[in-house]
Amino acid sequence: MEFITDRLILRPWKMEDAEDLYMYAKDPKVGLIAGWNPHTSIENSLEIIKTVFNADETYAICLKENNKPIGCVGLMIGKESSFDLPNTQAELGYWLGVPFWGHGITTEASKEIVRHGFEDLKLDKIWCGYFDENTQSKRVQEKCGFKYQYTNENIYWEMTGQTHTEHIYCLTKEDWLMNK
Ligand SMILES: CC(C)(COP(=O)(O)OP(=O)(O)OC[C@H]1O[C@@H](n2cnc3c(N)ncnc32)[C@H](O)[C@@H]1OP(=O)(O)O)[C@@H](O)C(=O)NCCC(=O)NCCS
Repeated sequence: MEFITDRLILRPWKMEDAEDLYMYAKDPKVGLIAGWNPHTSIENSLEIIKTVFNADETYAICLKENNKPIGCVGLMIGKESSFDLPNTQAELGYWLGVPFWGHGITTEASKEIVRHGFEDLKLDKIWCGYFDENTQSKRVQEKCGFKYQYTNENIYWEMTGQTHTEHIYCLTKEDWLMNK
């Protein structure tokens, strides 16, 4: 499946995207604050495309002008999420290459994926979390209409070996319908 917004194409990842993915995902500013380690090589990025980004609702964020990936957005439904959700609920995840930060791109991509989640996948709730220091991610969630639910203090993140305080937000279908 593919989605078109004002500035973006959201489409499945392809093996040919490995070089572009590595260019952005090697930057420690992108992965660590989202809970994953920077990519170490183009081969590493290719492996991630084959084993992680091949999931059903994971999409490359591409600019319309060249259809090349600059970030990633997706929904992890039910048990695939980190919140142990029922199959009618999902977790929203996203990241964007540093050169593109601050232009509303992730908000634009996330709003479209949220629409897809509620309208096409018939979800009733979408959850999203961010680490304490990540005010940019907090803003994305607020701009998409998510509301604060609870905080997990000092969670050990196995993948990166870091400890974080995580804030959890949620958007219900009712709230989304009221504000869209
Ligand atoms: C979080 C992230 C995806 C946001 O992407 P983005 O496309 O820049 O987001 P938007 O432009 O839609 O919104 C960013 C907001 O943060 C604000 N912001 C705060 N500090 C900023 C900074 N250093 N650079 C850019 N924007 C900043 C922006 O002003 C904007 O808020 P506003 O619309 O109220 O002005 C991006 O910063 C990123 O990839 N971070 C690393 C990975 C990550 O945190 N993923 C999410 C894990 S929960």
